[in-house]
Amino acid sequence: MPETGTTDSDLPPTIFVLYGATGDLARRMVLPAFFQLAQHGLLPPDWRLIGSGRGERSDEEFVDHVRGALEEFGPSPDDGPWDEFAPRLRFAGGGFTVEDPGTLLDVVSAAREELGEEAQLVHYLSLPPKNFLDYTRALGEHDLAEGSRVVYEKPYGASPDGFRELDEVVHSVFDEQQVFRIDHFLGKEGTQDLHVLRFANGLFEHVWSREHVAQVQIDVPEDLDVADRADFYDGTGATLDMLVTHLFQVAAEVAMEPPVSFAADDILAARESVLAAFRPLAPEDVVLGQFDGYRELDGVPDDSSTDTFVAARLYIDSGRWRGVPFLLRTGKRMAAKEQRVSLVLHRPKGPVNDVPANGNVLSLSLAGAGAVDIDVMAKRPGPDLAMAPARVSLDLSKIPGGDPLPPYVSLIHDVLTGDRSLFTTSEGLAQTWRALQPVLDDRPEVHPYEPGSWGPAQATALAGEHGWLLGQTE
Ligand code: BG6
Repeated sequence: MPETGTTDSDLPPTIFVLYGATGDLARRMVLPAFFQLAQHGLLPPDWRLIGSGRGERSDEEFVDHVRGALEEFGPSPDDGPWDEFAPRLRFAGGGFTVEDPGTLLDVVSAAREELGEEAQLVHYLSLPPKNFLDYTRALGEHDLAEGSRVVYEKPYGASPDGFRELDEVVHSVFDEQQVFRIDHFLGKEGTQDLHVLRFANGLFEHVWSREHVAQVQIDVPEDLDVADRADFYDGTGATLDMLVTHLFQVAAEVAMEPPVSFAADDILAARESVLAAFRPLAPEDVVLGQFDGYRELDGVPDDSSTDTFVAARLYIDSGRWRGVPFLLRTGKRMAAKEQRVSLVLHRPKGPVNDVPANGNVLSLSLAGAGAVDIDVMAKRPGPDLAMAPARVSLDLSKIPGGDPLPPYVSLIHDVLTGDRSLFTTSEGLAQTWRALQPVLDDRPEVHPYEPGSWGPAQATALAGEHGWLLGQTE
């Protein structure tokens, strides 16, 4: 078979098994991401993608399914390289359980014959999380674990007990080094830029501590509803869906000590140790909300107390950050959609004593390709020495030679290269659950808020004199 267009020739032949291949997540995210990898020349010179599912389909039917997914959610297959992509797709039906592996073992063997025994095997569990345990056991039972890599979607355990049980089973089958747990916020271009901006620029590195930073805000308001996935959402809520996952991981990215190097093990160690310094959240430092009208959505019980909004004041007990509040906020049906990390700097000491509390802010947008914005005080041009707030912005997509990748594309590429630096670890997740535990034990009241607002008024007080930077002018 010919090689696929441009490829990453450092990568070995790879067999990528996609469990749940005909499900929603695969259609929306994984298959389009895989095709984009082909477009960017980031797949190995030779590979097979085996879709695994419960139904029976021929390879041709699966090819049609993938094409349909791309037409709906991805780059158009007609933009290429579809003709080289499609012949590498296979389907293994009949499900995959401990008792019955369906046709998967035969299809993997056939792929190994085509690619060679040394082919790298990657298992991608694009499945509802309740199936993670059974599929993991089945991978062990059917001898597919050795030497392979395995990818778990979020949520990797939806409670401390659920996390521990899953992690035990996973570690009975795989070594930690083989496991790639996705938190797609870590794969965002903007998040990845945090390290480069900070560690490659004295301008930023020198201010990165309690001495200069009054507070950090990680603010992810969403204007979206949850109507299309109310069933799932009502069993989860904002705290589990976003806070203990994405917002905590981004907070760790901001707050970590300089890793010894950018090697994956050093970054993982630095992230784990800062997560271990997260002070358990005090319930009075957490405000939960639910937007008016949420209970009327199909699939949501009339008396649901699920939080669609959470704001939290987190402290990190490291020398660098002691006493600096990390303000984390997210919610559905809010006034805007943004993803911002902001470091609010202390007012400078010196002759200018009327700098506003939020006059000096270093902020990063995590949306899309990312952007860096610096709010400064400048002289308002004119005859008088008057000050005015001004913003300096850098759109990261405009950096010459840049080729920004969506988070799933970037993370799947990291799986193929074996780079775990942007994935969560067992130890790190244990620390996030530890930090959330008091809020689970003593759940704060859920306050109503207006759709299209900035959440319940009770959240305002958390931000202190600086207020939340987003939504201040509303
Ligand atoms: C998902 C959450 O993990 O992240 C969603 O389940 C949320 O509730 C989404 O909307 C946000 O991701 P993105 O891709 O918009 O940054």
